[in-house]
Amino acid sequence: MTALMLLAALAAPPEFNYDEAEVPDYTLPDVLGDADSPEDWPGRRAEIVRLFEQHVYGVAPPAPEKVTFETRSKTVDAGDGREVEWRTVTITNQTPSGPFTHEVEVFLPAGASAKKPVGSFALIRYTPRSKDPIAPDEPERGYCPWGPITAAGYAVAVVYVDDVAPDDKTRFDSKLLKAYGMDGERPLDGCGALAAWGWAASRFVDYCEQAEDLDAGRVAVLGHSRAGKAAWWAGVRDDRFSIVISNNSGCGGAALSRRRFGETVARINSSFPHWFCPQFDAYNGNEDALPIDQHMLAAAVAPRAVYVASAAEDAWADPRGEFLSLVEANPAFELFGDPALRPEDRPEVGGTVVRGRRGSHLRPGGHGLERFDWDRYLEFAAAYWGEEIK
Ligand code: GCU
Repeated sequence: MTALMLLAALAAPPEFNYDEAEVPDYTLPDVLGDADSPEDWPGRRAEIVRLFEQHVYGVAPPAPEKVTFETRSKTVDAGDGREVEWRTVTITNQTPSGPFTHEVEVFLPAGASAKKPVGSFALIRYTPRSKDPIAPDEPERGYCPWGPITAAGYAVAVVYVDDVAPDDKTRFDSKLLKAYGMDGERPLDGCGALAAWGWAASRFVDYCEQAEDLDAGRVAVLGHSRAGKAAWWAGVRDDRFSIVISNNSGCGGAALSRRRFGETVARINSSFPHWFCPQFDAYNGNEDALPIDQHMLAAAVAPRAVYVASAAEDAWADPRGEFLSLVEANPAFELFGDPALRPEDRPEVGGTVVRGRRGSHLRPGGHGLERFDWDRYLEFAAAYWGEEIK
């Protein structure tokens, strides 16, 4: 090897593994700890949350002492003869440095009322509004198909992360975290952007708690990819979310870190240092030292419902590792009488599996949030919430 080749090899990104046979042996941390009954579970759940705050996502700001809402509405045409309400909710949070404002866009089915409040999906969205606005004139568009969602009798709320923590390592702390005096140099458990995004989704639940036409007891949280990581964590922290959905969330989301398949902890920390807390760096190339792994988040959703969606060609996100998180959450769900999931229950491409409060599908194709995914979420929610799709 010439000196030049040696230099090039050193500068090249580390190799990523896409070969199942090369996945190292690993032992996952125990889900239950000392808990062995449903009564013990809240205590164990709290320990798991604390571990993830300290080692992975950091400590998010507290819920605001006071939060107020202002709304403005338009009527939009769903293209199937129905009219849908498009409601912009401006949320004002009282923070130590004064009022902090962000917005959520909600599409509501016409049937929503105080008499018949509807369930909803809080969709955490990371693309800036200016770049990729939701499409009020495109109700079928895959990413946020508000036409079919409202036709099924549910609302969808788009939570824009750019309002609270821009997805940028130099500016992520310039909004919400600044309002809480948490900007600048971070302690080891300092809040990362993913936790800040989840905080914003929780404010939508605050809104549902006082809006007459939205049912605060039936809110699912989801996001795609980086926002799927945020949703995975938000749904654990805030147990008011009734269903927690990971859409292709991969490393730092549903995928088991110890498998080191596709994206790794070292890679994600070097590319996106602002997503996690500084302590997460300690596990770069050192996954076995993590006191947790991502299956403990699936477990910590129990006894609520959790869903993992993967895409067959999304190797970077480790689809098998995403599903295995659900499987490895067995002990927590079994405490509540749910049947076990086995690795061999993993769906074929195009298939779905539901066991008790857990569900999963493997969509054909690559990384994305598509109609196929949404159709499965609507079915799962209807079954879990006990409602027919209209
Ligand atoms: C990158 C990153 C992933 C992330 C994805 C996304 O590929 O490595 O972790 O999920 O971006 O958010 O689209």
